[in-house]
Amino acid sequence: MTKRTIVALPGDGIGAIVLKEAIRVLDAAGFDADYVYGDIGWEFWCSEGNPLPKRTIDLISEHKIALFGAITSKPKDDAAAELSPELQGKGFVYSSPIVTLRQHFGLDICVRPCRSYKGNPLNFVRRGKKGDIEEPFVDVVIFRQNTEGLYGGVEWTNPPAQVYDALMTHPKFRDNFGWCPKEELAVSTRIFTHKYTERIVRAAFDHAVRYGYKSVTVCEKPNVIRETSGMMWKIAKEMQKADYPQIKLMNTNIDAQMMWLTKNPEDYGVIVAGNMFGDIVSDAFAGLIGGLGFACSAQFSADGIGVFEPTHGSAPKYADYATPIVNPVAMIESACMMLDYIDEKELATKIRNAIAAVVEEGEVKSYDMMKLSGCQEVIDNGAASTVEMTNAIIAKLR
Ligand code: NAI
Ligand code: MG
Repeated sequence: MTKRTIVALPGDGIGAIVLKEAIRVLDAAGFDADYVYGDIGWEFWCSEGNPLPKRTIDLISEHKIALFGAITSKPKDDAAAELSPELQGKGFVYSSPIVTLRQHFGLDICVRPCRSYKGNPLNFVRRGKKGDIEEPFVDVVIFRQNTEGLYGGVEWTNPPAQVYDALMTHPKFRDNFGWCPKEELAVSTRIFTHKYTERIVRAAFDHAVRYGYKSVTVCEKPNVIRETSGMMWKIAKEMQKADYPQIKLMNTNIDAQMMWLTKNPEDYGVIVAGNMFGDIVSDAFAGLIGGLGFACSAQFSADGIGVFEPTHGSAPKYADYATPIVNPVAMIESACMMLDYIDEKELATKIRNAIAAVVEEGEVKSYDMMKLSGCQEVIDNGAASTVEMTNAIIAKLR
């Protein structure tokens, strides 16, 4: 095993707490790496006017693989008010470092696996035909296009004349929205490009083949959003026929998928969607397997940059506890995705097995697994702290 250099981006709040625990697990599992720490987050916005300084971008460019905790974002007015006094009025405008990361490195592929751990008290259960309780095994991987679509940022309130005039050339706009004064219009675009739609769909099929999933489901709404969802569906159909005949291709509408989610979640394997629907469907499936304490994710670019992070944010209300209580599993699972990516699959399996053993045994449980609401007292009520949860996982490594 060659020694790796990993960029560690703790960020804010519990991001820093869980990242530290993930690195402890990686070390204990025998992953040989140097960690170089990169600055990101609110502190750097306040002190430098930039939550993602160039030195951090350079570190990621150099080493390509980053483990990221989470950051805090605040509304525009708060951002302006918290900027250090000597920077105020100098034209600094806050923008989310996560979005900047995605755009700068072209992290167009977002992967979010949602797999239930046996014995997790947070697993979804439903009533069976005979009134019995069923606990379907969920093993779904969502491929979310990460840079385009409704989150592409191409939007206007009171659009400029050229945009307005262009919209007016569309009969549906003219007939249905032409009555509205321009100043009262807000428009957010949903742009899909063939290149990046094809990339996310291919990534989904490749993953299905590599990890033995039987189906790929396009979760969009092509019957209504004909141009963009329609493009993804068409690409998927052609690609399946040409290159992946052994994988079953399915098509669900995002709204129906939300309903089927609790009816037959075990019927889905790989799901692929645009940016916003991918965001929705991944949060929804995460809810079936334990929620934010278990939801991990990875983002990749075409040139091999990988950023691995839990889906959750910085949870500021839990950031300053004398004994941290948050569940480190989402971050540790994200680190396992990193290990998969850099071909350290044995180590990833070892860590996942250790998590599985702790969850199944059920003796050490973080507060979320005990269905307690978060407060410092959960520790007195028997919840494992963040560190104890990590220790239990480390103890099961073999
Ligand atoms: P959040 O994900 O930070 O927390 C929401 C709630 O989820 C928490 O209050 C807690 O009850 C639960 N939770 C989160 N992580 C958990 C864990 N590891 N174990 C157990 N429970 C956990 O989302 P919120 O409160 O909406 O946002 C807080 C800050 O985080 C905001 O500034 C937001 O902008 C930022 N954010 C950052 C993200 C990122 O860095 N990728 C993603 C989402 C939010
Ligand atoms: Mg989300």
